[in-house]
Amino acid sequence: MKMNPMRNDNRFKLGVFAANADGCLSITKVPERWMASWDDIVAAAQMADQAGLEFFLPLARWKGFGGETNARHISFETFTFAAALSGLTEQIALFATVHSLIVPPVYAAKALATVDHASHGRAGLNIVCGWNQPEFDMFGLQKPENVYDQGKEWLEILTRTLKGGAPFDYKGEHFDLKGVEGAPSTVQTPHPILLSAAFSPPGRDFAAKYCDCIFTTFNDHDEAEKSIADFNQRVEKAGRQAGFYAPVHVVCRPTQQEADAYYENFAVTHADNDAVDIHMAMKKKMSGSHDPKTYDLYRKRFAAGAGSFPYVGTPQAIVDQMIIMERLGFGGVAMSFVNPKLELPYFLENVLPLMEEAGLREK
Ligand SMILES: Cc1cc2nc3c(=O)[nH]c(=O)nc-3n(C[C@H](O)[C@H](O)[C@H](O)COP(=O)(O)O)c2cc1C
Repeated sequence: MKMNPMRNDNRFKLGVFAANADGCLSITKVPERWMASWDDIVAAAQMADQAGLEFFLPLARWKGFGGETNARHISFETFTFAAALSGLTEQIALFATVHSLIVPPVYAAKALATVDHASHGRAGLNIVCGWNQPEFDMFGLQKPENVYDQGKEWLEILTRTLKGGAPFDYKGEHFDLKGVEGAPSTVQTPHPILLSAAFSPPGRDFAAKYCDCIFTTFNDHDEAEKSIADFNQRVEKAGRQAGFYAPVHVVCRPTQQEADAYYENFAVTHADNDAVDIHMAMKKKMSGSHDPKTYDLYRKRFAAGAGSFPYVGTPQAIVDQMIIMERLGFGGVAMSFVNPKLELPYFLENVLPLMEEAGLREK
């Protein structure tokens, strides 16, 4: 088995985020916007894989956000997505992003084990405890009062099932299961890398206590520093170790002016404003995934990358950002591009060597 690159020694890990969905994280009408066709996804995954990026991370979405483009109405299911990419890539970690409310844990354990075997130990699981009630309505489900209580039971069942061994019964507040068993176990022991996408204090606790990394948002370096200190306290209290990751949206160009001009073009001039409004209003109402002031301050960041942090500039400016973030305690970032197939070649060719020079990556 090759090592899952999420466990390698690179100080700042890089992944491609949200390529399974239209727009990736952007909500824009530019003609080159990502339509998430399967062949384009494979091309982007293979570029990232061959360049040695650490991970390929899909988002979990079941419904579009409306507007002119109905942003995110196209998306691929993520276990089958990761399984299919297993045979088409060599080294990159392949995550599935799963709603703990929608997918039964015993099913998720088997699907995850399948991806881990098919990829020879490169599987990862991003757990989203969830926020979007209209999506849950598609499954006849009601979001529980505390999604993380449900998530904790879900994860306990999943990890126990993955261990194999004698059949077990499980009785909790959310699950009442009899004779649970699962084989094979995963290739990675004790289990594949577990990520939890969350922001709130209960979400941070869940990630700190039970996962390998938190995947979370931030507005600026000061806020990130405080969030990392807060998260690390929770991790220490749990007597564990866990990494801190965030999504970013990337526009990398030879000059700052070119990067700024393209950013303005896709995220302001050609933003799908109706979809941005709906997306922001839904998140504001139903999700704690951002600091509330983010919605007022950073509309452009929502059009460009669902409220993620901007990496907009020259290769050196982007690496300078990474250097700051690595010092603050980030383990890495998951990157969204307007069109990963078009944008990755320049990024990979020009940013990775500078990261090597800066000691953020091994050659
Ligand atoms: C970086 C990040 C990525 C997320 N990705 C998804 C996703 O792909 N699908 C989804 O339904 N929710 C996603 N979420 C939402 C979380 O799973 C969670 O429901 C939301 O953040 C509310 O929980 P919280 O208050 O603990 O943050 C994401 C959240 C964050 C912070």
